[in-house]
Amino acid sequence: MTGNEIREKYLKFFESKQHLILQSAPLIPENDPTLLLIGAGMAPFKPFFTGKMKPPSTRITTCQKCVRTGDIENVGRTARHHTFFEMLGNFSFGDYFKKEAIAWGWEFVVDVLKIPAEKLWVTIHTEDDEAFKIWHEEIGLAPERIVRLEENFWEIGTGPCGPCSEIHVDLGAERGCSADCKVGCDCDRYLEIWNLVFTQFNKEEDGSYTPLAKKNIDTGAGLERLASVIQNKPSNFETDLIFPIIDYAQALATVKYGQATKSDISLKVIADHARSMTIMIGDGVLPSNEGRGYVLRRILRRAVRHGKLIGIKEMFLAGAVDKVIEIFATVYPELKEKRDYIQKVIQLEEERFNTTLEQGTELLNEEIKNLTAQQQVVLAGQTAFKLYDTFGFPWELTSEILEEHNLSMDKQGFDAAMQEQRERARAARADKNGNAALVDLNGIDTASLKQDEQAKVAKIVAIFDEQGKQVAKAYDGQDVRLILDTTPFYAEGGGQVGDIGELKCPSGNIVISNTIKLADGSVVHVGSLTDGLAQVGEAVEIKLNEVRKLSIARNHTATHLLHKALKTVLGEHVNQAGSYVGEDRLRFDFSHFSQVTKQELQQVENIVNEQILKGLVVTKVLTDKEQAKAMGATALFGEKYGEVVRVVTVAGYSIELCGGTHVDNTAQIGLFKILTESSTGAGIRRIEAVTGAGVLAYLYEQEQLVQQVAQIAKCRAQDVVARVEALQAEAKELHAEINKLNSALAENQTADIEQQVQTIKGVAALIAQIPAMDVENLRALGDKLRDKIAGVIVLASVQEEGKISLLAMATKDVVAKGIHAGNIIKEIAKVTGGGGGGRPDMAQAGGKDVSKLPEALQLAATVIEQQIK
Ligand code: ALA
Repeated sequence: MTGNEIREKYLKFFESKQHLILQSAPLIPENDPTLLLIGAGMAPFKPFFTGKMKPPSTRITTCQKCVRTGDIENVGRTARHHTFFEMLGNFSFGDYFKKEAIAWGWEFVVDVLKIPAEKLWVTIHTEDDEAFKIWHEEIGLAPERIVRLEENFWEIGTGPCGPCSEIHVDLGAERGCSADCKVGCDCDRYLEIWNLVFTQFNKEEDGSYTPLAKKNIDTGAGLERLASVIQNKPSNFETDLIFPIIDYAQALATVKYGQATKSDISLKVIADHARSMTIMIGDGVLPSNEGRGYVLRRILRRAVRHGKLIGIKEMFLAGAVDKVIEIFATVYPELKEKRDYIQKVIQLEEERFNTTLEQGTELLNEEIKNLTAQQQVVLAGQTAFKLYDTFGFPWELTSEILEEHNLSMDKQGFDAAMQEQRERARAARADKNGNAALVDLNGIDTASLKQDEQAKVAKIVAIFDEQGKQVAKAYDGQDVRLILDTTPFYAEGGGQVGDIGELKCPSGNIVISNTIKLADGSVVHVGSLTDGLAQVGEAVEIKLNEVRKLSIARNHTATHLLHKALKTVLGEHVNQAGSYVGEDRLRFDFSHFSQVTKQELQQVENIVNEQILKGLVVTKVLTDKEQAKAMGATALFGEKYGEVVRVVTVAGYSIELCGGTHVDNTAQIGLFKILTESSTGAGIRRIEAVTGAGVLAYLYEQEQLVQQVAQIAKCRAQDVVARVEALQAEAKELHAEINKLNSALAENQTADIEQQVQTIKGVAALIAQIPAMDVENLRALGDKLRDKIAGVIVLASVQEEGKISLLAMATKDVVAKGIHAGNIIKEIAKVTGGGGGGRPDMAQAGGKDVSKLPEALQLAATVIEQQIK
């Protein structure tokens, strides 16, 4: 039975059990950021298991393309490890459960594939008595053939998972590692061919397991393994699903298959990796240094190296792809259509790595020799990084080669070097972004370059690297500047920001982060390759960021409306003196000699919004300067015009010369809102405003603000004004209340305070600190105390931290003896960091430093003593 026949039989068998046959999903997961690549038959069905989406049928069967790289170093070393494999699966979404899943699995293996029952063993989860019962009582397996294993629980990242039960084939003692090797051993004797997962849980981000609402079945059977058993081959690699690729490679190599373990591993690696790369590229992955593109690069370069190890001199991967496509001709016919593309991507990557592989290998061999000679075992991270950066060695490859010599690498050092380089690159990018001087268009026919807002495709005319050097090709990770033969990208100018977007090359992607214009008007696209490569002469598909562009257009047309409205409201002297038109807002500078009043701004805003709501048609025409003038166009600030000019007209309202991006109808602007009005210098005012979604964002912000206040004031949003007014009135009342209470308190304390009266040279003196009190109350209290003691008083009251009130008063008779309240106050206020003074009988002052108050009051006594004659 061929591999293709097994696949076919499997799907048909489950179709006969009312399963819907579905095509394999692409390797790139849709809407699943937790997965880099599809690695199991169930992966595309996660939402069906969790109940998030309704499946087209509660019973589905597939043959799913899978890539797993966790065991990549085992590929070729064992009979059954792969990076790419096909997983046969039958799934129940809340339909049948263990009983049927077990019965059908057994039926297919024994009755359809005719694998002798006496060679089969099964495993179950330690606690799964239900599965034991089914295997034993319904299938009739002897209890000793049912092995309980703790590790029989299946999960892949987050998502649906559960206990599982596996079917194993005993391939004979001669394949075992030892005489007492058992089911569950990692060697090649007991081969797991079927995994039944009883999907009952969902593994959450935090690692916990939530029971699923319904019980499900997820099964997986590796097609290559089944084929190896049916075709009675020593490993998956000898089956018809893989061997033709080995056959192809050995014809080019200096070794033959079966000659030596080491070279056999290389042949197997090449065969396995050729399958992976073909399917991955066919499904849209491109080599890069990030994510799944890196997985592809690693696999591809690993294959190139193994080719070298077995003496293959020429480029050989494209030929291997032919074999893969042949093998999969009926099941994945789309590969044939994409053959040229897949081969081209692979060839370019192979060619690129070939140019550095030899030198890199030489360097690494040298390092290995040195390490061994010095009896060291760890390669420096810096060296591993150099191999990566200069010679394109994925670090995993370096690490693997080292392991072949029982050495390792300093991964931490490698990571640190990588981080350093990333930071350098970031800094360099920030420096250069938008610097057009880096491009020299000498030798390029710039007259033939076109600008066309509608262009969807273009040809790459020139590529410049980071240093401004013209290159024929650029690779992923590289910063580039590009010239296209025709472009819809608007280049930064006339106040409007440059467009951004993406260019899809035949085998690469470029993200355009800015568009700039050279002095001659040529448009330069500033960007970087995220994956694959770009070549001069290639056709690219243009993906302009249209959403952003429309926001910019809104702001630009609104700028014209604003200009006109300002003239109407403020006068004809208003002229544009600069502007910024971005995605998020617009800024307009204009001549005007006084602040624009609130009413004027309101008026301007209203007028602009009227024009928006009228839905006026906006036209853009190219004409000559004279004609434009005749039409009534006013030239904008700072622009130089060639023979041909562009006139932008808002029907019946405004007309301006402008090369920028505009909406087709003012209604598209949505709404216009002025945020600020300010001065930028002599006679120039500045208005900042938003349109469209920007207005909505502004509204949300305001709404949020009111809601926040309402929350703090504990009332409904619509009651906020009344509530704040009430709170203010309440605060005022409370203050008055506090003052009243304090003076009552002081009154009560008068008696206590009187105790502090002392006699200085025959004069009654009262020097005291009293509770917080406002100036008025303090004075009233002072009057009272002064009269009572008939002498001199000095009072201090701390109102709040950093604010002290000082008061001195004296009766006439002690003033006659020399007391001067004003001078006392002047001296002591100084001590507390304040100032003040006054008349001989009464003076007040403020102070700041509360900690100095005791010192100040002490000084008062001394001053009084000195004053008395
Ligand atoms: N999802 C299960 C596996 O991959 C069947 O083994």
